[in-house]
Amino acid sequence: MRILIVGSGGREHALAWKIFQSKLCDKIFCAPGNGGIEQIAECLPIPADDVSGLLDFARKEKIDLTVVGPERALELGIVDEFTKAGLKIFGPDKSAARLEASKVFSKELMAKYKVPTAAFKVFDSPDAAKKYIEAHGAPCVVKADGLAAGKGVVVAKTVDEARAAVTAMMEDKVFGEAGKRIIVEECLEGQEASILVITDSRQVLALASAQDHKRIFDNDQGANTGGMGAYSPAPVVTESILKTVMEKIIYPTLDGLAKEGIDYRGVLYAGIMLTKNGPQTLEFNVRFGDPETQAILPRLKSDLVEIMLATAVGKLSKIKKLDWEERASVCVVCAAGGYPGNYEKNKEIFGLEEAQRMKDVVVFHAGTKKAAGKILTGGGRVLGVTGLGNSIKEAINKAYAAVDKIKFEGMQYRRDIGKKAL
Ligand code: AMP
Ligand code: GLY
Repeated sequence: MRILIVGSGGREHALAWKIFQSKLCDKIFCAPGNGGIEQIAECLPIPADDVSGLLDFARKEKIDLTVVGPERALELGIVDEFTKAGLKIFGPDKSAARLEASKVFSKELMAKYKVPTAAFKVFDSPDAAKKYIEAHGAPCVVKADGLAAGKGVVVAKTVDEARAAVTAMMEDKVFGEAGKRIIVEECLEGQEASILVITDSRQVLALASAQDHKRIFDNDQGANTGGMGAYSPAPVVTESILKTVMEKIIYPTLDGLAKEGIDYRGVLYAGIMLTKNGPQTLEFNVRFGDPETQAILPRLKSDLVEIMLATAVGKLSKIKKLDWEERASVCVVCAAGGYPGNYEKNKEIFGLEEAQRMKDVVVFHAGTKKAAGKILTGGGRVLGVTGLGNSIKEAINKAYAAVDKIKFEGMQYRRDIGKKAL
């Protein structure tokens, strides 16, 4: 099969790496890809959100399956366009992608179908939002309705902070149209976990659990990032918690969507807070997580292409279960100096080959590019270094031993990835 992957990050490198291992895969294209993906795929100068450019390419090149990494193309309706053209594609359609693209849609769906989530109120006027915040007090959480590159959520400890978030989103319009409507919600407490499932809206297969580390510094200090590392499995997600999440969150959400006439196909990612009142839904994403995917896929033994193809054609029920490695994995993200603010670029990366050669280590590229035979940094999150081990402890040691081999100017990474699981 000729397979097109859309995207350019560490998640897409992990997808390409796993797809490359499939007996069904003959050739991989990636739009636009990165310096690591280039080693196993033909990278194309088509941006990940250029739906018509991607469609033209897929038609011309007779692509058998397209796999969408980032949410933007899904929000823009890439799945609808490809399906209309008779092309197979893995991901939810535009109506289903609203689960991530509009937090108001997502929260209202949860409320309607009684999916546990923080109490909330929707506002389209800043004054009303501020009055509500003053009346209810802090802490509270302020969320922009639309996509904001993972930055649209402010967990406010004080009323002033919450008011400032409303001003930034609704009056200063820092996220543009995405902040036209906002949500103010109750602040939940507990451990977080990511539960991802693959579904064609009938069969639902859970992926191995994982936990992300969103803050830039050790011990969850500093600014929020796209994710500084992940591990899998997440020991907080016991069999019984997984069962509860499936029964109270995943199935009711898919059933609710079906009742609204929406057929969900692809990956559904539930961000969960394990509160003392049970698991609550923080958010839904309509795609694989980044960097969770770099921890999860190295543990998957089943053929990913077979799973994605079956999902795309609505025949996932022929796959009864997924096979997983017993071993644990830990992915440490190496980021550029300055990230998550303005970050440095074009720094040469050293030691990649030595790290890659290590047993039980996979180095995924996130923001890299190849120039004159060298690999240079090009994004905020540069690499995701995954180690596998018989325990989380062993996987941590593996991953950090590999990170020790890698150097580039300004490189920063957390020293405590996976520690919470010990
Ligand atoms: P989201 O993009 O909705 O996942 O939010 C990003 C992060 O904000 C989550 O991973 C949580 O750490 C935090 N968060 C979101 N909603 C809440 C909430 N209701 N209570 C506490 N923290 C939250
Ligand atoms: N790791 C968080 C996300 O992919 O949204």
